[in-house]
Amino acid sequence: MNAGRRRMLTLSASAVLFFAIGCSPPAPPPEAGYRPTATVRDIMDAVVDPSADYLWDSVEVIVTAQGREERAPKTDEEWNEVRRRAIALAEASNLLLVPGRRIAGPGAKAEDPAIELGPDQIEAMLSQDRTSWTLLAHGLHDAAMEALKAIEAKDKDALLYSGESLDKACETCHLKYWYPPGPPKKQP
Ligand code: HEC
Repeated sequence: MNAGRRRMLTLSASAVLFFAIGCSPPAPPPEAGYRPTATVRDIMDAVVDPSADYLWDSVEVIVTAQGREERAPKTDEEWNEVRRRAIALAEASNLLLVPGRRIAGPGAKAEDPAIELGPDQIEAMLSQDRTSWTLLAHGLHDAAMEALKAIEAKDKDALLYSGESLDKACETCHLKYWYPPGPPKKQP
């Protein structure tokens, strides 16, 4: 049986369980073997943000009155280091999809409740619709893969352009789940 088919079966088994109990979504099956320790907030802080910053800073075009100055990886070791960051970023998108991952630690609040949703509100959105979250995490994966492709080709222009896709991938998710535009959100 191929992996896709197996996943379908697992999914429909959990759907049956879900409807049978008729309340909160089923706990992830223990055989999945995941041990989600860190929160989404931790993963942003520890992996996603530093890796993305490294990629963004690795290639820059600075235009001054004196002319155009370019910064980009040159040696094999420099290219290798950016590659490590692109790999970390691509796989961090999968970490966001691990079942049972919390948004933030117990009792954590939004830093600025006037503009940000609280972790509980984000989790409520996720429990109603995981598909959007999954698509946005895949958007991060696609952007990281665009960077990885550029890095493997040692193409600094493509790496620079991939920075825009990356920025868009972060922003699209944050606009939906972290600081949606509109009037201040009522915190629970
Ligand atoms: C699939 C959705 C998603 C994607 C994609 C995403 N983020 Fe986040 N990010 C979140 C959510 C949700 C929070 C708010 C978590 C919380 O309550 O602190 C967040 C919070 C953060 C934080 C604050 C962490 C802290 O310590 O408070 C930073 C920094 C961050 N993201 C950076 C990024 C960057 C950079 C990218 C893109 C390279 C990115 N994120 C992509 C969902 C996402």
